[in-house]
Amino acid sequence: MKAKVSIIGAGNVGATAAQLIAYEGIADIVLFDIIEGMPQGKALDIMQACPLWESSVKVKGTNNYSDTANSDVVVITSGLPRKPGMSRDDLLHANAEIVKSVTSETSGLSPDSTVIVVSNLMDLMTYIAWKVSGFDPHRVAGMGGVLDSARLRTFVSMDLGVSPDDVEAIVFGGHGDQMVLLPGLITVKGIPITKLISEKRVDELIHRTRHVGAEIVSLLKTGSAYYAPAASVLQMVKAIVHNEKRVLSCSAYLDGEYGTSGLFLGVPVILGEKGIEKIIELELTDEEKAHFNHSAASVKSLLDKIKI
Ligand code: NAI
Ligand code: 2OP
Repeated sequence: MKAKVSIIGAGNVGATAAQLIAYEGIADIVLFDIIEGMPQGKALDIMQACPLWESSVKVKGTNNYSDTANSDVVVITSGLPRKPGMSRDDLLHANAEIVKSVTSETSGLSPDSTVIVVSNLMDLMTYIAWKVSGFDPHRVAGMGGVLDSARLRTFVSMDLGVSPDDVEAIVFGGHGDQMVLLPGLITVKGIPITKLISEKRVDELIHRTRHVGAEIVSLLKTGSAYYAPAASVLQMVKAIVHNEKRVLSCSAYLDGEYGTSGLFLGVPVILGEKGIEKIIELELTDEEKAHFNHSAASVKSLLDKIKI
């Protein structure tokens, strides 16, 4: 039997993720939104591409939560995207209410699902989804590190003129301006990046990665990035549905790991059919730890502002 993936929020990220999952034939898809007709229209359009893609998945658009029942994976993309001049922090309160209501609807209908949270502020929304669902924390993962890592890999590959596939990077901390991008964990086919370009250049690429979400917002003017975010969702869904045991940066519940407790934050994990199957703990230098703690403190201060 095919896996079932429900995507809540049929906007730019949600619909593009549905398209990618259908294209790859990974799972049957339910695309939910509160806007009447819109998810149905997008689902029908994607279904009609399936014969051309030689994909046999079913895609159902809906405004009824009951259609999401018994999903293997629930992806939460519902919420407001960033607009020009709006920080990720501005989104906090509006999206917190949306994610609370979505999770309370989906968690009872799909009690064995793994939840992937995309909505911003993602680390906080992931915490809310975990709290409201009552799920074991390893069944709830936030998408941010996969995207930030892909962005950094892209900039490194552009700079060096090498395939992005040969560039690896692990991202830590919150998916926000305090994300932690460590030069020591950027490699090109196993070669440390600092052996290939100057430390100053690495810092410039890291700086651009940290701010490229806002760079895209100011270019688009009507919303935020969605092609690479949707591709990041695809990688996480595939890792879970195909039990790939991928090593990915995901927002995971920390219970003492990296000296932090009671927060969802980006760390390297093994992602497979049981969700976050392991958090990989690395020895960080004092400077790296300080960056991580700074990012954790920024997520914690926002968490203290929301009522759950
Ligand atoms: P969008 O505006 O295109 O889509 C959001 C959809 O959510 C809309 O169709 C809207 O009708 C729907 N929605 C609103 N309230 C809802 C509710 N209560 N139940 C179900 N659906 C509801 O926005 P986009 O670009 O798809 O982004 C979605 C979210 O993902 C935003 O919060 C954005 O900031 C975040 N994001 C996070 C990324 C990450 O790396 N974690 C990357 C890109 C976006
Ligand atoms: C991004 O990084 C807005 O979180 C979104 O593009």
